[in-house]
Amino acid sequence: MFVSILSVFSGSSQPHWTALRTWWREQARAKGSIAATSLLARNLRDFLRDSTPERRRQRYGDMEYDWEHRVNTTSGTVGWRARLLGCFHSPYQPTEPALFHEMMAALPIAFEQFTFIDLGSGKGRTLLMASEYPFRKIVGVELIAELHQAAEENIRAYRSATQECSEIEAVCGDACDFSFAGEQLVLYLFNPLPEAGMRRMMANLEKSLAANPRAVYVLYHNPLLAHLIAGSSAFAWLGGTEQYSIYSARSGGQTG
Ligand SMILES: C[S@@+](CC[C@H](N)C(=O)[O-])C[C@H]1O[C@@H](n2cnc3c(N)ncnc32)[C@H](O)[C@@H]1O
Repeated sequence: MFVSILSVFSGSSQPHWTALRTWWREQARAKGSIAATSLLARNLRDFLRDSTPERRRQRYGDMEYDWEHRVNTTSGTVGWRARLLGCFHSPYQPTEPALFHEMMAALPIAFEQFTFIDLGSGKGRTLLMASEYPFRKIVGVELIAELHQAAEENIRAYRSATQECSEIEAVCGDACDFSFAGEQLVLYLFNPLPEAGMRRMMANLEKSLAANPRAVYVLYHNPLLAHLIAGSSAFAWLGGTEQYSIYSARSGGQTG
């Protein structure tokens, strides 16, 4: 098992390997190499704990959406390599449908003027749910290849008589380096990035806004690093609950 675990992280030029190296460097730089080693051990321990039959059974608790739509977005079927990588970034967990629709209802926008982007899109459940709204376009960015492939299959398999947007693109890559085009955006974040990654992503977003002021909304689900957006002079808090926060770019008028 240990050899298999090492093989996941070695000899690969995949984005997840690059991200792991970045993770290690960032941890060692911020906390020192001993703390980074201890965090590594803790992540491995969490992974082993998460592999017990009981925990595996619990992960199937999110299957109702899949049953209804004949897709595969559950965290229950994620392979051990992707789960292990998830321990070092952000473990895959799909957004709960009722909460997603509550967040959409809170957006004061004309959907057809906006592109929806999910950074850390996993198996693509939010991309499918967003396609029930008339967005111009939908984009998902996922680091882990296995999850990205599942998202592509789900996009192909999804059938809905009420689907309003069929322009859906899944990209495999690191969200920290995502380059924002100059469109009006709804940016969805379900806690995909650690602090250093969020800072990089926010710097890219702020640069894009400075170059091209426009309406941009950030939907931040489980906002553990909310201070990074709240502290940005480019954004104002618009509303939310304990489960999510919505921010809007100060530079763009509210389009709706
Ligand atoms: C909590 S899950 C959310 C999944 C999806 N957004 C949803 O709401 O259903 C976070 C996702 O972020 C992905 N992730 C973590 N770090 C990433 C990065 N640097 N770039 C892109 N995706 C990343 C994880 O692999 C995981 O699939």
